[in-house]
Amino acid sequence: MNHIQTSASLVVEELKPILGDRLATSNAVREHHSHDTSWLAPHMPDAVAFPRDEDEVVAIVRACAKHGVPVVPFGAGSSMEGHTIPVRGGVTIDTREMNRIVEIRPKDGLAVVQAGVTRKQLNEELRATGLMFSVDPGSDASLGGMASTRGSGTTAVRYGTMRENVMALRVVTPDGTPIHTGSRARKSSTGYDLTHLFVGAEGTLGLITELTVRLHPIPEMVSSAVCAFEDVGEAVQAVIETVQYGIPVARVEFMDEVAIEGTNAYSGLDLKVTPTLFFEFHGTPAWVDEQSRLVAEIASGHGGSDFRWSTDPDERAKLWQARHDIYWATKAQRPGCELFTGDICVPISRLAESIVAAREDIDASFLKGQIIGHVGDGNYHTAYLIDPNSKEELEEAERLSGLLVERALAVGGTASGEHGIGMGKIKYLRKEHGAAVDVMKRIKAALDPAGIMNPGKMGQEG
Ligand code: MLT
Ligand code: ZN
Repeated sequence: MNHIQTSASLVVEELKPILGDRLATSNAVREHHSHDTSWLAPHMPDAVAFPRDEDEVVAIVRACAKHGVPVVPFGAGSSMEGHTIPVRGGVTIDTREMNRIVEIRPKDGLAVVQAGVTRKQLNEELRATGLMFSVDPGSDASLGGMASTRGSGTTAVRYGTMRENVMALRVVTPDGTPIHTGSRARKSSTGYDLTHLFVGAEGTLGLITELTVRLHPIPEMVSSAVCAFEDVGEAVQAVIETVQYGIPVARVEFMDEVAIEGTNAYSGLDLKVTPTLFFEFHGTPAWVDEQSRLVAEIASGHGGSDFRWSTDPDERAKLWQARHDIYWATKAQRPGCELFTGDICVPISRLAESIVAAREDIDASFLKGQIIGHVGDGNYHTAYLIDPNSKEELEEAERLSGLLVERALAVGGTASGEHGIGMGKIKYLRKEHGAAVDVMKRIKAALDPAGIMNPGKMGQEG
């Protein structure tokens, strides 16, 4: 037994009386927590804890701190860059039993939830209030995980990402101290903005146990449209114009023809196989009508055709479910493959050239790949379908991903718009942030001098 395993068994011994069956060391449970949805190699934790409240998290983190054992936060396991892979073993803290909605305050437009509450669970609970939680990554992720990765989804263009929607947090710091950050007020000028230090820290600075999140009124009217284009560049130009006009679209999503083909097959749609935009408009009936008309005019000016409008909730739900299932639809295009994903974000004026170049790279490669995007934000995903055991394919995906990032950084963009750094994109952190990475490392060292929180990731590497 090496040092970590020995220390981990001391932690397990100490925590068993507190957690009982909610501390697992079986192979099956450890295996389930050894990977996320990325292609990256799995690694098993020594044990997995399922706390129910903050006191239990404090006990776990204190025991780990005492014995120098790594702590890896885990939400729904749907991260896409290896964030939750316990590369140095230790105790994974799975927050799925911390799934209590603590409070909903409709008049203040906020909800307080434990970290393991998922986005769908919260929206289900909100139904009767006329409010919604807007952030919608593809999977039914936990809010703690979404905050940790500064996640977003299809509605960020109108309602913002987790950065804009988290008002306050409770966090257990690496020495086991519970703290709160932020407040229920809409704004504040007090103290360092620790809320937004922990949002996006990917579990390297502490473990989020509770979140206060912003809610939005469910719009009176919702209308969706699908619009087909001849050409990728023209589709994206239509988006750029829409954003530059200041039309407050609620969603505007791009899919290239490869993605449309996969979605048709996986989700039983019959969309024309061509670059396509999915729009959604929110507001009063008159306002939705006005926005739809303006966008239709812009789209037609760029060769957009085959408009399909829908205000029918079931039809819309089917369309957006298909969009959210894109990860599975893509995987199904090559049975047994893993997805190597790109996730860059660029200033909106550079989006068309960026996507066109990414598509040309894929077309010139022997790998199959597709492009989808939250294009209203200037954010898009490439997915390269790889056999993770093929060195040649992995190298090619790395090369394509590298080109993508280089071009994004050259125009003032970022290596990741929403999936985060994890292990998959760590090598780009310094290219993007330069000497600021050393400041990040100093913050990490100050908060977590023993380096136990999600080690081997951001704040230590890069
Ligand atoms: C999405 O936009 O669907 C997610 O970010 C997942 C993906 O990249 O496949
Ligand atoms: Zn996405």
